[in-house]
Amino acid sequence: MNVKPMPILKPTSASDFQYIPYISQRYEYELANLEYNSIKDSEKIKRLAYFKEFSGEETLHHEFCDQTNKIPITLSKNKIQYFKKNKYAVGYGVNGLYPYKGKFHGQMIRSIINILGLENSDILLDPFAGSGTTNIEASLLNINSIAMDVNPFSRFLTTLKNDLLLSNYQMFNGYYDLSKKIYPLLNKPINSTFRKDLPFEKMLQVKLCYLSYFLARSYDIRNNTQKCKVNYDSVIKMYYNRLNSIYDYKRDNKLSLGKITIDSKSSATDMSISSNSVDGIITSPPYSNMLDYPANDEYQNRILGFNISDIRSMTIGIRNNASTSRIDTYLDDLSKFFAESFRVLKSGKYLVFVIGYKELENQKYQLKNKIFASLSKIGFIHKRTIKKSIPGYRNKLLEEEIYFYQKQ
Ligand SMILES: C[S@@+](CC[C@H](N)C(=O)[O-])C[C@H]1O[C@@H](n2cnc3c(N)ncnc32)[C@H](O)[C@@H]1O
Repeated sequence: MNVKPMPILKPTSASDFQYIPYISQRYEYELANLEYNSIKDSEKIKRLAYFKEFSGEETLHHEFCDQTNKIPITLSKNKIQYFKKNKYAVGYGVNGLYPYKGKFHGQMIRSIINILGLENSDILLDPFAGSGTTNIEASLLNINSIAMDVNPFSRFLTTLKNDLLLSNYQMFNGYYDLSKKIYPLLNKPINSTFRKDLPFEKMLQVKLCYLSYFLARSYDIRNNTQKCKVNYDSVIKMYYNRLNSIYDYKRDNKLSLGKITIDSKSSATDMSISSNSVDGIITSPPYSNMLDYPANDEYQNRILGFNISDIRSMTIGIRNNASTSRIDTYLDDLSKFFAESFRVLKSGKYLVFVIGYKELENQKYQLKNKIFASLSKIGFIHKRTIKKSIPGYRNKLLEEEIYFYQKQ
């Protein structure tokens, strides 16, 4: 991998390539440039993320986004503009089904998979998988992967998205009828209906109805409205249309999908994975205590029957060890995650992680230096840093960086 920053790629002739619409940030051009130079020409149409065309032919990523993220024309002008902007970066396929705090842009992950040169026989790991963006992107490139997360709702999301992607039109038999029966079971004070009264032979549909309810309810809470049932019905329909468009794409393109393994036993600080077995890690740990994941997903986890205090005690960034400060516990947990990453990676392979800082300049500098020192003490070699701007983000102090570290 070339360590020096690279100039922005310019087309050598009009027909050479075209960038995907709506990329504008420097880091996006940097990733585009790197992936373009990492992928051989014969694979470019199939794999590239930040490109609409190569040699006059449309890329599969552009086609997939166009087919699986149709923007409803009934929206206001502003909303249409917002959806258009996100269409190729984040809002497509099954990754566009549900918003998760701190979720990756799938497109960015696709480009990093390309930069690492991962192939069909490789195994990719995301130890802080969240909504499983990394794993779904790997699957779309026919690469096997492992997802870990201590938040059960996150594992529910990744499993469901994977099962939906692997499924087909038949899974919708009786969907609307079932969705009507499920709504009243969900729309009452928290209980554990999930494990008791529901038709298990239709589990995929049941879970999709749960997801629709979670989304409908969060719109309602955010907008302070009483329209949960109306929202639920439109999400049920939106999911039906979205998944059918994915199944159309799969049928027309004979998409081969990678396998996703959900590891529910591991923590990123203590992985039950063999040493020297993984070909790449792409991930993003919590940014200190900036987001409280257990609090954010408390409702969903309670409905799914999980204990919140257990989740809190394992979530890095917010968990505290009585004998040290919260930030020292965070740094100590990050060090354990780095050490585990080093152990499970094969030699020569990469740990790529995105991390953000909300600290003031002086504290940020200290925190970064401690992170870098910990990585180098473990034996990782720094290969590249890409600065990631966050346009329009409310917290002006926040900055994100993408680090590429190699196990040698
Ligand atoms: C920044 S989010 C990841 C979001 C993900 N990249 C996505 O696209 O959805 C960080 C995740 O780390 C998880 N997490 C926190 N502590 C963990 C631990 N000890 N082991 C595994 N996952 C953990 C949180 O539950 C959260 O889902």
